[in-house]
Amino acid sequence: MPDTSKDREVSETFSKQYELVLADVMLAMEQEACGSNYGGTSWTTRAEADRMVQLLDLAPNDRLLDIGSGAGWPGLYLARTGGCDVALTDLPFSGLQIAARRAIADQLAGVCWTAAADGARLPFRDASFHAISHADVLCCLADRPAVLNACRRAIRPGGRMVFSVISIAPGLSGAAYQTALANGPPYIETDVPYTVMLEQADWQVADCFDITKDFVETVRRAVHAQEAHTKQLFELLGKVETTARMTRMKDRLAAREAGLHIRELYVATPAS
Ligand SMILES: C[S@@+](CC[C@H](N)C(=O)[O-])C[C@H]1O[C@@H](n2cnc3c(N)ncnc32)[C@H](O)[C@@H]1O
Repeated sequence: MPDTSKDREVSETFSKQYELVLADVMLAMEQEACGSNYGGTSWTTRAEADRMVQLLDLAPNDRLLDIGSGAGWPGLYLARTGGCDVALTDLPFSGLQIAARRAIADQLAGVCWTAAADGARLPFRDASFHAISHADVLCCLADRPAVLNACRRAIRPGGRMVFSVISIAPGLSGAAYQTALANGPPYIETDVPYTVMLEQADWQVADCFDITKDFVETVRRAVHAQEAHTKQLFELLGKVETTARMTRMKDRLAAREAGLHIRELYVATPAS
């Protein structure tokens, strides 16, 4: 269960989001921005998910764990493309339900498990997984060390973890920092860099790619998609909510075009 009132608020916000993600207009916009149609809420594009499959080095019969799996993007796609088994965990039941139905539709039901679980308290035996993934999840939760420790316990020797995360660009202060904070995911601020956090949780950083440029392009496509589908958004959400969403997205794009956020893709392996 979420630990603080902010965690609960984040979980409820995602829960409500998953109730809408399968609406035709939301799927159309997801397709236009990310090239996916799972009900995704991260900025993971299909090209990035393909890159994750390669980086995770997935093989048939491997077991993948996707944390903060939402409606199954990109976990189910990684499993289907990599030909492996997958366990999906998240807190909102509404997302997991969509993922479970998608697994059946994609004929993955026999190789897919879903569990409502906090990433910090994974309900699996130690060393159960060959690979772990998460997409923009660590910037949506407070206790990142606990999640990284739980992932470390869950990975098998020789396994890999690949994840994307959004951060405030280094070196910002004053108004620029506040703008970055206001327009980022709920837990974009970090006391310690991710490289250090990973080391402290007994992970070794094998690679870290700066994927900010692609990220900004994806946000730009998301803004265009909203503009192209405004009428359908009015019908689904009403004028007030649509206008608020569009303003929020444009503000985020402006912050990202101004270089206030970075998005990175990490590859980590157990350090010991
Ligand atoms: C940006 S969304 C990504 C969802 C999905 N993987 C995707 O790409 O569409 C972040 C997800 O992290 C989940 N999350 C937040 N806090 C969590 C926690 N403590 N444990 C597990 N998942 C959490 C949220 O519920 C949300 O589904």
